[in-house]
Amino acid sequence: MATLAANGHNTQPWKFHLDERGGIKILPDLSRRTEIVDPDDHHLYVSLGCAAENLVIAAGAHGRLADVNIEGGSEPRIDIAFEKGPARDGALYDAIPLRQSTRSVYDGQLISQDEIYLLKAEAQQDGVSVIIFTDQAQREAISEFVIEGNSTQMDDPAFVAKLREWLRFSPDKAVALGDGLFSACSGAPVAPEWIGGRLFEAFFSKDAENAKYRDHIRSSAGVAVFVGDRADPLHWIRVGMSFERFALQATALGIRNAHINQPIEVAQVRPEFARWLGVPEARPDLIVRFGRAPALPMSLRRPVQDAIV
Ligand SMILES: Cc1cc2nc3c(=O)[nH]c(=O)nc-3n(C[C@H](O)[C@H](O)[C@H](O)COP(=O)(O)O)c2cc1C
Repeated sequence: MATLAANGHNTQPWKFHLDERGGIKILPDLSRRTEIVDPDDHHLYVSLGCAAENLVIAAGAHGRLADVNIEGGSEPRIDIAFEKGPARDGALYDAIPLRQSTRSVYDGQLISQDEIYLLKAEAQQDGVSVIIFTDQAQREAISEFVIEGNSTQMDDPAFVAKLREWLRFSPDKAVALGDGLFSACSGAPVAPEWIGGRLFEAFFSKDAENAKYRDHIRSSAGVAVFVGDRADPLHWIRVGMSFERFALQATALGIRNAHINQPIEVAQVRPEFARWLGVPEARPDLIVRFGRAPALPMSLRRPVQDAIV
């Protein structure tokens, strides 16, 4: 259940160690870093937080209370101890295998204030704020930041080359490796690897991507921005826990979500975006759009044994 969590580029940058007393440690797998888009391992630690939250929810559904201890120092990790408790209500647990990043045009409809309240309530986490924008003018402003960030990334050959390494154009490669970004999961055409590579070179352009993001954001009901109180691995893990609960609650309500993180990934755009948010001293951590749309194919995972150490 933990490995089904959201994670940057679907690199699955985690290792799980089962200790003699029945506890589980979640450790970073630094061989799965994405150093161009994520030079300080921000996304990596957010991803560990997402996995930890799934694990805690799954344990709760099976009658185990989890005690989470985040070690944020020089070798960050998450220690989870379990004790017997009553089995918890399973709405978020049931959503774990159904949650997905849905990178498509949404239906353009608003979602109710009650649903927004539930999303915010589930995402509550010490040291993390969640700001929700539903107003169209605000969504347009966020769209401009996404386009600025995306344009910078698309103009950077190192970024595009690294992204391409994690793309899987064919089902054969996607299934064989069990990681990375499979085209079908983004609604893109599936093709043998060599054809997919040529299509990528021919059609993956800054203008087309920017137009796509504008349509995606316009069609969404809103955008959630996650901001940790501090910029360190401890808070990045907490941001991941908050986001994962948000995504699971959304899934339980039939609401989709997808990341539009370019403004926080590009170091020059991030402070401008923080000023626009009204938190100039903070480092905004995640930007996520949400709304309703049909499901896309689910992303793949490596066998669980590969992540156990
Ligand atoms: C920290 C973090 C950053 C992410 N950044 C992006 C992003 O910028 N764009 C995007 O489309 N998806 C992004 N994602 C979503 C992942 O690509 C996605 O979770 C992963 O491919 C697994 O797919 P799934 O969420 O459908 O299970 C991010 C996820 C996390 C946890």
